[in-house]
Amino acid sequence: MAHFSMIKWIMIIFFIWSISAQQCDQPVETARFDCHPEPFASSEKCLARYCCWKPIFSSTNHSTNSLEVNVPSCYYPRDFPTYKIITNESTVFGQRLTIVKQQSTYMPNEILNLTVDLLYETAQRFRLRIYDSTKKRFEVPLPVPVVGTKSNVTDYEVSLNQAPFAILVKRKSTGVTLFDSSTSPLIYADQFIKFSSYLSSPFLYGLGEHRQPLLINVTNEWRKLTFWTRDEYPVQNVNLYGVHPFHINVEMKSNTLINFHGHFFLNSNAMDVDLQPLPAISYTTIGGIIDLYLFTGPTAQDVIQQYWDVIGKPAMPPYWSLGFHLCRWGYNNIDNLRTVIQRMHDAQFPYDVQWTDIDAMRSNLDFTYDPTNFNGLPDLVRSLQSEGKHYVNIIDPGISPTQPPGTYPPYDEGLKRAIFMTKFNSTELIIGQVSPGLTVFPDFTNASTVEWWTNIAAAFHDIIPFDGIWNDKNEPLNGVDGSIDGCTNNSLDKPPFVPNVLDNSLSAKTLCPSAQHASSSHYNLHSMYGYFEAKATNLALKAIRHKRPFVLSRSTFPGSGQYAAHWTGDNRATFEDMYFSIPAILSFNMFGIPNVGVDVCGFFHDTTEELCTRWMQLGAFYPFMRNHNAAGDKDQDPAAFSWTSQQIMKQALLMRYSLSPFWYTLHYQATTLSKTLVQPLHFEFPNDNKTLGIDQQFLIGRAILVSPNLVSQTTTVHAYIPQDVWYEFSSGVKVKVIGVFTDLDAPLEKINVHVRGGFIIPMQIPGSNLMIGRGNPFTLLVAQSASENATGNLFWDDGDTIDSIEAKAYNYLEFSLVLNTLTIDTIVANYKDSPMRLELVRVLGVSKVVTSVTVNGKDHKDFFYNVFDQILIIYGLDMDMLVQPSQTIEWTTTTIN
Ligand code: NOJ
Repeated sequence: MAHFSMIKWIMIIFFIWSISAQQCDQPVETARFDCHPEPFASSEKCLARYCCWKPIFSSTNHSTNSLEVNVPSCYYPRDFPTYKIITNESTVFGQRLTIVKQQSTYMPNEILNLTVDLLYETAQRFRLRIYDSTKKRFEVPLPVPVVGTKSNVTDYEVSLNQAPFAILVKRKSTGVTLFDSSTSPLIYADQFIKFSSYLSSPFLYGLGEHRQPLLINVTNEWRKLTFWTRDEYPVQNVNLYGVHPFHINVEMKSNTLINFHGHFFLNSNAMDVDLQPLPAISYTTIGGIIDLYLFTGPTAQDVIQQYWDVIGKPAMPPYWSLGFHLCRWGYNNIDNLRTVIQRMHDAQFPYDVQWTDIDAMRSNLDFTYDPTNFNGLPDLVRSLQSEGKHYVNIIDPGISPTQPPGTYPPYDEGLKRAIFMTKFNSTELIIGQVSPGLTVFPDFTNASTVEWWTNIAAAFHDIIPFDGIWNDKNEPLNGVDGSIDGCTNNSLDKPPFVPNVLDNSLSAKTLCPSAQHASSSHYNLHSMYGYFEAKATNLALKAIRHKRPFVLSRSTFPGSGQYAAHWTGDNRATFEDMYFSIPAILSFNMFGIPNVGVDVCGFFHDTTEELCTRWMQLGAFYPFMRNHNAAGDKDQDPAAFSWTSQQIMKQALLMRYSLSPFWYTLHYQATTLSKTLVQPLHFEFPNDNKTLGIDQQFLIGRAILVSPNLVSQTTTVHAYIPQDVWYEFSSGVKVKVIGVFTDLDAPLEKINVHVRGGFIIPMQIPGSNLMIGRGNPFTLLVAQSASENATGNLFWDDGDTIDSIEAKAYNYLEFSLVLNTLTIDTIVANYKDSPMRLELVRVLGVSKVVTSVTVNGKDHKDFFYNVFDQILIIYGLDMDMLVQPSQTIEWTTTTIN
């Protein structure tokens, strides 16, 4: 041993001597790439890796400058051994290279012969795959598009460096770098793959699921983001419930934005993404292959669309799920549940969906209800449904194996079908512990699990006819680390490198990575557990209800949006948590799960009346709105508060409900055109630097700006109204101060919502729930642009049919305003089961006095013009909106002298 270490030291000294100082000199410290990402780096350990060791000493011991604190002391020299290109051939899809490395470096099982495929998939999408030339490795089982032939026209150009191997991708039109791996050496070992690239700017969006402000700004900061799904209440700097290795990078030139582009690293293994102010990004994963997509945008929405083309577009949700959802953990018994339902009814709150949590189960067992404390639940559900409401119940993945044989079919049937996960190299089930006690875990990657899941859900549906399913704890959570028997010591459970996961262990609060799924190890599939469960649940619901499914999933992965909505887990009843909900819903929209919300009023801790009032106002503008809280915390359903607060909350809910046709049309555009439901201001006003990273306000579609008050005990909100025409949503009055941050009046009873000129918003008179209100009259909010034009559209169908879009069983209308003529073009009118009548049109920004109105050429007397606020209201229309091909509403004006 002593002998070995002596040799080692001689080698190291030789190495240090042999590398010229120049190899360790980086032009700037920010150009250092971490050669010792594990904790406790030392000069000895660093030099043993043939890396450069130069600690940066901060001027004080308590430096707050994160740049200094995080500059790696151990970093790669410029000539660190890496690959060189040996062959390069043109193929139908682009190019195939083989690259080799002469010597292994510091990670065990390096793969020295690699194949590199450069796929020119579309004009805006480039894909880079680097894999073992000889042995098949795990690849993410996501059905991505298979493109056989190279796109001849591309927005990008690719160049290569032969030795050391590097790939450079540039935007053709501007020469901006989209990817450049020459920054640091490629390392490719069996359980450690690392590569880096320059970024175009230090400004990024995405990289979730993490609690963070919307804009990731690494101008002055090094940041490490870790990806490995985990049940952890949302706090900063830890891996959370979902994994989304996708980002959008802002391209700036002389401080002016020019474009956006994106990266998607298709890899499901535990990974770190390091960002540094160079600016640069490094991906370190412990398995799979390098499969990296580049999207050239050039707009942010283009990048998102290109991303969703790969991962799949989000599902069209059932219409009822756009309404208000009410839940809590800890109704504890049916009387409490009935009391809440009754007081919501008495207080006349619009609401659509009632939920129950695990306390409604018998002994926390999936697919049961507690016949003692929740005696009568099936009837209660049926009675809600008879009023047009819907019911969603919780199902956790963990199945109890300890019930008397023959009494609990979910386990008995699952056992027969062998669909539970097993220990490493064994047929023995892996056992963990969750709410019902000991549990086994279904392997949702297995087709027969989906059948079993469908059967047991169907059997329960015969007892309680639920309308949707809530998939909780599907990271998956396990109360004992690994299993009740611990984990193995093999390289899956104890890999040579562990990314910066919470608790420094891959099995913390989950299953052993070595546990087996039918197709691969949990090591590879862990972060996709929620994805596969949501997919199975979605399929089960379709098979059972024959209607559009509604699934809410806590754990998500790219592609989950095709199957599920998402909420951000166990937040707290604080103003800070309310703020963080905005970057979260904006990010999940980018991630392709646009139907997202957070626990309104906060999950943990007692909320306050002020907070809950503000949060109900904000939540009314989330895509998915559910008020939910934890066992033991005080009631926070809207009817639990004072009369005044109730009125404020009701007003917010009525705004939400009146906008349902607009939201529904946005969902249609998300599922067909890959548009997000909500977006940051920066995406819509990219050339206005003041919008960069604004995340206390957001846009619904392109037209509605929401600026909530997120600060306790204040009555104004400091908000930015971008340079354009805007009107106050409620009053219709034009905003005077634009293009600057301004203090908007925001007393408790008011949420600031503005509508943007140039847009026509389809609305409807609300009913007490969405099913009841479906036949109610529609209204149009027409917000004139500076040139007095506007456009909009409306998608409408029965709200519940699975394939109504594919079957064209819907109505689709387009609205346009030009020269005082509002035209309604009814493009598709295939759904006629429920009337669509237009009752009222409100036109904002009408600067000249309106003297007459005609509808389809006929004089219409019912109108009112408000000269002070410049609003025209045309009422009493009672128009059938389905008359094809088009109808018009015109007005004449005169100028007042
Ligand atoms: C954790 C979930 O995040 C929470 O929403 C739920 O109420 C509890 N589990 C109990 O089921």
